[in-house]
Amino acid sequence: MESRVEVIILAAGLGTRMKSKLAKVLHRAGSLTLIEHVVNAACTITSPGSITIVTGHQTERVEELFKSRGVRFVYQKEQLGTGHAVMVCREKLENIPGRVVILYGDCPLLSPVALKELLKRQQESGAAATMISTELKDPTGYGRVIVGEDGYVRAVVEQKAATPEQLAIKRINSGIYCFQADRLWPYLDLIRPNNAANEYYLTDMVEVLHKDGQRVAELFLSDASELLGINTRIELAEADRVFRTRKTRELMLAGVTIERPETVIIDADVCVGMDTIIEQGVRLLGNTQIGEECRIGVNSVIENSVIGDRVHIAPLTMINRSHVAEDARIGPYSRLRTDNEVGAGAHVGNFVELKKTHLAAGAKANHLAYLGDSTVGEKTNIGAGTITCNYDGVHKHQTRIGKGAFVGSNSTLVAPVSIGDGSYVGAASVITNNVPEDALALGRAHQVIKEGWAAARRGKIKKT
Ligand code: UD1
Ligand code: MG
Repeated sequence: MESRVEVIILAAGLGTRMKSKLAKVLHRAGSLTLIEHVVNAACTITSPGSITIVTGHQTERVEELFKSRGVRFVYQKEQLGTGHAVMVCREKLENIPGRVVILYGDCPLLSPVALKELLKRQQESGAAATMISTELKDPTGYGRVIVGEDGYVRAVVEQKAATPEQLAIKRINSGIYCFQADRLWPYLDLIRPNNAANEYYLTDMVEVLHKDGQRVAELFLSDASELLGINTRIELAEADRVFRTRKTRELMLAGVTIERPETVIIDADVCVGMDTIIEQGVRLLGNTQIGEECRIGVNSVIENSVIGDRVHIAPLTMINRSHVAEDARIGPYSRLRTDNEVGAGAHVGNFVELKKTHLAAGAKANHLAYLGDSTVGEKTNIGAGTITCNYDGVHKHQTRIGKGAFVGSNSTLVAPVSIGDGSYVGAASVITNNVPEDALALGRAHQVIKEGWAAARRGKIKKT
């Protein structure tokens, strides 16, 4: 029978090498915080109630992320090293039999497959512990793994304490371990802070166990990419690149065309339908959902929005918290600020901004308009330069435009105001009163013609 698995995630450090006021595990890669990635991986091998996160810096913010998931927390007041971070969990976990997996909160790329393999190896080997290692061309900064002739690990030597010969070792400690609980807790107190940093190194457990005749097995992974530890912003960018690549590959395998995928940013929760084409430089963020057979134009940014099937979005368009129904045409250079609904087959063109606006099916606002706090009926045409004056300096007001209406270019609609179904608003009108159905509203000065005026003026200029 498989024994119970407790997971401890070390996340107390500030991460001085990040040069940041924000705790390292709260930095983001692939749209999630580093600690969320690690907790998600941990959840694939045990239940949230068996996960303990060791917090120290910005404890409340870390706890806030997982409060609803039933994860446990232990506070490490002073960060005296990775070994000490495990020691502070003793009281809560010491009496739980089974296996203890220890993960570092700054190693976000690890996969569920590797974790399952680790548990399996630990179960089969009968060793006191198993640790995941790999080889790196440049192992700088990582603990070096020293393996004995019998294939078991003898020691892990930290960068700062390593001799020149040890620094040449390319085999590194990933920081992912599985201990038998009854071998972890009794031996943990034997590690001492006898190193340059005066820290309790968890990695010293290997030597401690070996000296007492216990075996530490190794799970060697040849693919080092999922073992990257994030200590600097350079590694953070590298982890982000790996997550983004994973996401675009997943979508491409599911039938989405992505041009120049290395330039595209797609967040973890985004869904994209089959046969949609995503052009270069696009960012799809938050919980955005894109339908099938859409085209998302160059450098468009879409956040927390739902886009229906066959929608074409031309380049350089920004859409936030909005809903666009099937067959609509948006852009180029459109901005759907927040809380908009664009109906089926509607058009929103260049330099058109919408805010809290409902554009019904087939309505068009093709050029240079601002529509805020407004509703536009089916098949209504909004002329170039139309502005809803929704703000009186104190309050916001609604503009209601009926169906089949025609609002001429450069109209100024002073809200609150309503424009009836099928009505016309003459170009350049300032509309302050409601327009009835099927009426024509003109709100501008009459045109004046002075015959011969220009010729007479030219004559005057010549004489002087
Ligand atoms: C550690 C390992 C190193 C390994 C590398 C893999 C040790 C001594 N060294 O080095 O062998 O190759 O990870 O990435 O373990 N933390 C606490 N409390 C503390 C100290 C650290 O919770 O008192 C947490 C940090 O927040 C971090 C994790 O433990 O999430 C690892 O600490 P870090 O300082 O990054 O260790 P490395 O120097 O990377
Ligand atoms: Mg680290």
